[in-house]
Amino acid sequence: MNNAQWQERKNKVFARGMGNMLPVFIQKARNAEVWDIEGKRYIDFAAGIAVVNTGHSHPDIVKALTDQVAAFSHTCIMITPYTSAVELAEKLTGIAPFDDARAVLVSTGAEAVENAVKIARARTGRPGIIAFGGGFHGRTNLCMGLTGKVVPYKKGFGPFTPEIYHVPFPAEYLGVSAGDSLYALEQLFKNDIEPARVAAIIIEPVQGEGGFYPVPDGFLGQLREVCDRHGIIFICDEIQTGFGRTGKMFACEYEDVQPDIITLAKGIAGGFPIAAVIGKRDVMDGPDPGGLGGTYAGSPLGCAAGLAAFKVIQQEKLCERALEVGLRLKQGLHALQAKFPDRIGDVRGKGAMVAMELVRNGDVNQPDADLTKALVAAAGKNGLLILSCGVRSNVIRLLAPLTIPFEHLEEGMGILVEQFAACVGK
Ligand SMILES: Cc1ncc(COP(=O)(O)O)c(C=O)c1O
Repeated sequence: MNNAQWQERKNKVFARGMGNMLPVFIQKARNAEVWDIEGKRYIDFAAGIAVVNTGHSHPDIVKALTDQVAAFSHTCIMITPYTSAVELAEKLTGIAPFDDARAVLVSTGAEAVENAVKIARARTGRPGIIAFGGGFHGRTNLCMGLTGKVVPYKKGFGPFTPEIYHVPFPAEYLGVSAGDSLYALEQLFKNDIEPARVAAIIIEPVQGEGGFYPVPDGFLGQLREVCDRHGIIFICDEIQTGFGRTGKMFACEYEDVQPDIITLAKGIAGGFPIAAVIGKRDVMDGPDPGGLGGTYAGSPLGCAAGLAAFKVIQQEKLCERALEVGLRLKQGLHALQAKFPDRIGDVRGKGAMVAMELVRNGDVNQPDADLTKALVAAAGKNGLLILSCGVRSNVIRLLAPLTIPFEHLEEGMGILVEQFAACVGK
C-alpha cells in the first residue's frame, strides 16, 4: 500500500477535524531525516512541531526508553513514584530561572497550561486570566479559551470558561507596539476586570502558532512590573520556545525577568509525550495535595526520555547550536527575501525558531496565505518538511532539529529556495 492508499484508509476512519498537512506516512526517522513508506526521503524542518529538538530517535533517548520499558512502564506517580521523576524534577527546577523552584509533571502542553492556571487561581483566590491575541495554548476547553485565534482552534467549540480576557500581542511587524499592548491592558483593567480579580497573565515569549512574533525587548519586564503592582501571577508559556529552541533553555531568559510560572512540553523529552509546570515555590504550593496530577502524569517513560534529552541538550551544547542553526536559516531566508522582496515581507526569529512572512506587493497588509499553503505542499513533494503558522496563515516557520547536520540544513534550504521560485513562477 502506498501513501495515497493509506490516506484514503485514514479518511475513512478519522474524524475530519484531525487532518494532516501532507498525505505522507512515515516509516523511519533519524536526526533530521525522515523516510516515508514509499522510501522517499525528507529533510525535516518541522521536528514534529518543535518536539524533536534533539533529533529523531537520538540513540541515548532510544536506549533510555528501551531500558525503562523493560524495567516497568507505569505505576502512577501519585501511587508509587519512581526515582527518575525526582531526578527530572531536580533537573527542571535546577535550570529554572528563579530560586527555590517546584515542579509538576504532566503529559501534554495543554495539560501544563491548565495546571498553571489552576495553580495561579489557587494561589491568588482570583478568577481572571489575561492572554494575548494570536496566542496558542492548546486544545482543551480552558486552553481554547486562552488561545487568541478563532479559526480553526475555537470555531464551533464554545462556550469557553469564563473570566478569560485578551489584549493585543505586541507584534511589531503588524504595527502593534509594546506601548499599544500595555495601553490595551490598562484599558482592560478599566473596562472589563479590575486587576485585583486577575489571577494571571499568560504569554508566549515568541508566539508559536500565532506567527513567530517575538515580544519586543523589555516587554516581559514591563509585564512583570504590572504583575508585581497588582499581585498577579506571571506565566510564560515556553512549550514551543523551551529547551534550547531559541538559543537559551528558556526564551524568557533573554530578558533579566523572572516569571512566576513556566509551562513546558514538546522539546522536554525528544519526542516522548511528557510536560511540566515549574514555578516559584510560594506560588506552586498554592493547591492542596491531590489537587494536581493525573494517571499518566510524569510517566516513567517520559521521565527516562526527559533525563536523556536533558543530557543530550547539555552534552551536545544544543543552545549554542540553536544559534548557529538559526543564523544559517536566517541567512538563507534573507538571501531569498533579497530576490523576492515583494513576496517576503519579513524574516525573523530567535535562535532556531525562524520564520518568513509571505505577502503580496511587499505590503504587510496583503498577507499571502495561498502562496504559503502552496509552498508547504511543494516543499513536501520535493523532500522538505516545513510548517505554516500565523494569525493570517501566511507565515512559513522553520523548526529543524537543533542537531541537524549542516549539510542537511543546506540541502533543505536549497529545496526551499527552489520551490519558492517555482511557486511564484520565477
Ligand atoms: C505555546 C504552546 N502552548 C501550548 C501548546 C499545546 O501543547 P499540546 O499540543 O502538547 O497540548 C502548544 C502546542 O503547539 C504551544 O505551542
